[in-house]
Amino acid sequence: MELNEPQPLLDQLDEFQQLASHYQDIKNLTMREQFQADAGRFNKYTLTAADITLDYSKNRITDETLTHLFALAKKRKLSTSIQAMFRGDLINSSENRPALHTALRNFSDDPVIVDGEDVMPEVRSTLIRMKEFCWKIRNQHWRGFNNKPFTDVVSIGIGGSFLGPKLASQALKPYWGKKINCHYLANIDGSNLTEVLQGLSPDTTLFIIQSKSFGTQETLKNATECRQWFLDNGGQEKDLPRHFTAVTANVEKAKAFGVAEENIFPMWDWVGGRYSLWSAIGLPLMLTIGHENFRQLLLGAYEMDCHFKTVPFEQNMPVIMGMLGVWYNNFFNAQSHAVLPYDHYLRGLPAHIQQLDMESNGKSVSACGQYLNYQAGPIIWGGVGSNGQHAYHQLLHQGTQFAPCDFILPLMTHNPVDHFHELLVSNCLSQSQALMQGKTEQEALQELANSEMSEQDKRILATQKTIPGNRPSNTLFFDKSTPKVVGALIALYEHKVFVQGQIWGVNSFDQWGVELGKKLGDKVNAALTAKTENTQALEENFDNSTTGLIRAFRSMKNKL
Ligand code: F6P
Repeated sequence: MELNEPQPLLDQLDEFQQLASHYQDIKNLTMREQFQADAGRFNKYTLTAADITLDYSKNRITDETLTHLFALAKKRKLSTSIQAMFRGDLINSSENRPALHTALRNFSDDPVIVDGEDVMPEVRSTLIRMKEFCWKIRNQHWRGFNNKPFTDVVSIGIGGSFLGPKLASQALKPYWGKKINCHYLANIDGSNLTEVLQGLSPDTTLFIIQSKSFGTQETLKNATECRQWFLDNGGQEKDLPRHFTAVTANVEKAKAFGVAEENIFPMWDWVGGRYSLWSAIGLPLMLTIGHENFRQLLLGAYEMDCHFKTVPFEQNMPVIMGMLGVWYNNFFNAQSHAVLPYDHYLRGLPAHIQQLDMESNGKSVSACGQYLNYQAGPIIWGGVGSNGQHAYHQLLHQGTQFAPCDFILPLMTHNPVDHFHELLVSNCLSQSQALMQGKTEQEALQELANSEMSEQDKRILATQKTIPGNRPSNTLFFDKSTPKVVGALIALYEHKVFVQGQIWGVNSFDQWGVELGKKLGDKVNAALTAKTENTQALEENFDNSTTGLIRAFRSMKNKL
């Protein structure tokens, strides 16, 4: 495939125009009618991959819709792009890199070539190093100073070096055993640092500095503070190598920071931060759940990879989810997408998918430099159910915004308590049903038939009780949130995001937008911390709003 090959913008494609006219044909069709007319709709629009079943029957689609969507995917050469990603082509064209997170969970014997070399031996040897390291810590062969076994690990990292491992450690808490507690320190916020370190003892705490670049301000500052805390509380310089490890692609910087070379685990340019859970960035996770469970996580992701790579679009879960998102985004003008896990352990999923999706496809220029004249990545949001039902689901049911959702549901719980799980499941199923069927004004009026209100008041109330329905959702369900399922689930979303990036023509693997804020941050910090106000620098560098805010901070600080 030619990289940067100019592609027509989406709306110039016949396939896109056909979808636009198909949208006009079906926009008034209701799912309620469709379910009434077709007793086999659930079976028709349900499929299973890597132990996860997707029910996509509650979507505003017909067979014809899917035919048009797959035609668009073919026109965008999606199959070619999928093969190119797995093969290691330089699909991250603005950084001239492949995007090879799939190599990190490649259980096949196939080589993966980067710059003429197979990366698989290094991937495997890193996994072995991780396994040995975790074994030593978990079995108390590698101990802290005072010869005490480690009880706590603090993972210091932000963004992709934080959200994926945090999600997976939360999701897999039932697999932690009692050996090691895991804490995440991400934000540059003294409160976060204080909360994490409170109650920890330096002689039983291991720190992992997680930064692909080893240049991220928040991570380095937190790491410096943790080292100081360690030294101030009984640790000595000579003990640092026992207590501080790093995962990075920038070994020199990690060494310069003071991490012993033998305690540095590698990362590679060809793994994006938000796709790095599968690399040594997963070390805190492996420390808590053990090597075999980590391996299962990789295996689940690998099964989803094989599915994505080989199965025709018509039965391909990431392709179907991705194309449904395109359908709503570009034809129904949906601006957001909700991720709603009905599982306490999966409560970190929306935040991880948010970074994965929004940092990947939150772009308005194509990979070959054209300004997009259509919507690309949506806003991803959500939270755990049923909590959300008592908060933002009101908007999902009756709001002027149209937000498709994914319900995510384990059929079994790790913690059976009375009938809790049945109640949780029934909340989940009834939400997707309510979104789909809604309540007509006629039904609302009937409910008020016996009330003593005036006819006019009944009508007014009935309009407010009317629920439009016809609001689409997917339901992803599986037996239990096991390591394998969690791996497959995360990989599913990674591939969904890839599919959409290909259709919209954006590079899903760079993130230039975050750079500007980082650069400006240095200047703001200089202005906040200067001994005396430098009025000229303020005028030159900032607008008067930012200047006003800087002055407010300085004047508060001066009062202290
Ligand atoms: O600011 C965004 C980002 O660049 C993410 O893409 C990345 O995951 C995060 O910062 C952390 O970067 P690093 O792992 O290099 O510290």
